[in-house]
Amino acid sequence: MNSCITGLQWGDEGKGKVVDVLAEHSDIVVRYSGGANAGHTVVVGDSTFALHLLPSGSVRPNTICVIGNGVVVDPDILEMEIDKLAQRNITLTSRLLISENAHVVLDYHKKEDQLREDSLGQNKIGTTIRGIGPCYADKVGRSYAIRMADLRDIEKLKSQLRNIVEYKNKIFAALYNAEPISADQIFEKCKCYADKFLPFTTDTTEFLHKSIVDGKSILFEGAQGCLLDLDHGTFPFVTSSNASPLGMPAGCGVPSKMVDKFLGVAKAYTTRVGAGPFPTEQDNEIGQYIREQGGEYGTTTGRPRRCGWFDAVAVSYAVTIGAIDSIALMHLDTLAGLKEIKICRAYKINGKETTFFPANTTKLSQTECVYETLPGWEEDLTEVNDFSDLPLNARNYICQIEELTKKPVTIIGVGPKRNQTIFRQ
Ligand code: GDP
Ligand code: IMO
Ligand code: MG
Repeated sequence: MNSCITGLQWGDEGKGKVVDVLAEHSDIVVRYSGGANAGHTVVVGDSTFALHLLPSGSVRPNTICVIGNGVVVDPDILEMEIDKLAQRNITLTSRLLISENAHVVLDYHKKEDQLREDSLGQNKIGTTIRGIGPCYADKVGRSYAIRMADLRDIEKLKSQLRNIVEYKNKIFAALYNAEPISADQIFEKCKCYADKFLPFTTDTTEFLHKSIVDGKSILFEGAQGCLLDLDHGTFPFVTSSNASPLGMPAGCGVPSKMVDKFLGVAKAYTTRVGAGPFPTEQDNEIGQYIREQGGEYGTTTGRPRRCGWFDAVAVSYAVTIGAIDSIALMHLDTLAGLKEIKICRAYKINGKETTFFPANTTKLSQTECVYETLPGWEEDLTEVNDFSDLPLNARNYICQIEELTKKPVTIIGVGPKRNQTIFRQ
């Protein structure tokens, strides 16, 4: 059984937790897109792990972890993550594979990300400044790209880096009046990356296909969320990769035909970090309540997340483009204490009602939400482990989400820990 797990909103839906929980019954977990812009939290007992590049199966000692070709790898962050896990006696030496075709995020990418965002002022995207956009841009541009495999020929890499850095420095000076960066310093770092990561670097596509033939069970772990997808999200306020399940085949070389189940993860409300349209946003005491109850501060940047009501129009769109079979609904516990809870069931754009999400920033900014209002509940849900033990209003809320999205909610999150999960078939 192979499953693909992706976010159905603007990221941070709780994918890390779901992947970790389901990894118990899987042999391999694969990241296929994004980079260290992701922050996936896994909570095991009293320990909290924030993973950026490592798949969320890392915390389980026997799970093989694959970083696919579609991921942009920042070796500094990867090294830090591996070391942090090692400090907690979790070792990846014999179970980490990195695609030789994955592109490498280097210091000039992060610098470019920062300079561009600073120069955009009010129009900035609000990126994580992890160099993601510039690295993917180099990938598409080809001539100035560095992949993991390039670390194998260090002499050739030296001259490649000289050319690239010369080009980048011209841009930094001309567009931003910024200090140059040193090719030699980046080269020295690359020599360390080669020592550290080449032993893990391989043809991961071949490995995955062999594993499928051997009957291994694989989880494909998405980063970000469908609405941040470069092609299908709220462009330009998106990330630079195909974060929806549409990015999975290209990002690891396994066709979606070989995936048995597509599971979408959504929060019981909506959050977003960074700029961009957010029709159900509650920039008021409701949003504040959700932020504090849910601890809605970024895993990667610590930024407060924008919060709002569940948007069934947006989630249904994600379900459609992702061919989602079922939904994991997280953070149901966070809504406890609200007298009324709203769900957006349609948009009104220029007086016309629609239930199809327009992934178009202009239209979204003109959107008026049509809400259904449901009664809330007071009870603490964090110890509930059976659907039938949830308060009636919480069950009705879930049923309403199922009706609007036309998909079953098969997993419910009532807290960050593994055992705070309700399974429902
Ligand atoms: P991801 O990027 O989708 O993996 O999500 P993040 O880890 O960035 O953010 C989700 C946050 O919610 C993390 O702090 C999780 O530990 C936490 N979390 C996950 N599921 C639940 C849940 O059902 N209830 C609560 N209260 N917290 C949860
Ligand atoms: P996970 O995997 C939430 C957002 C940034 C910004 C936009 C572009 O933890 O769900 P980028 O650095 O990718 O160029 O930023 O995308 N963003 C995320 N928001 N969760 C994430 O990842 C995100 N990764 C990027 O805030 O708005
Ligand atoms: Mg996150």
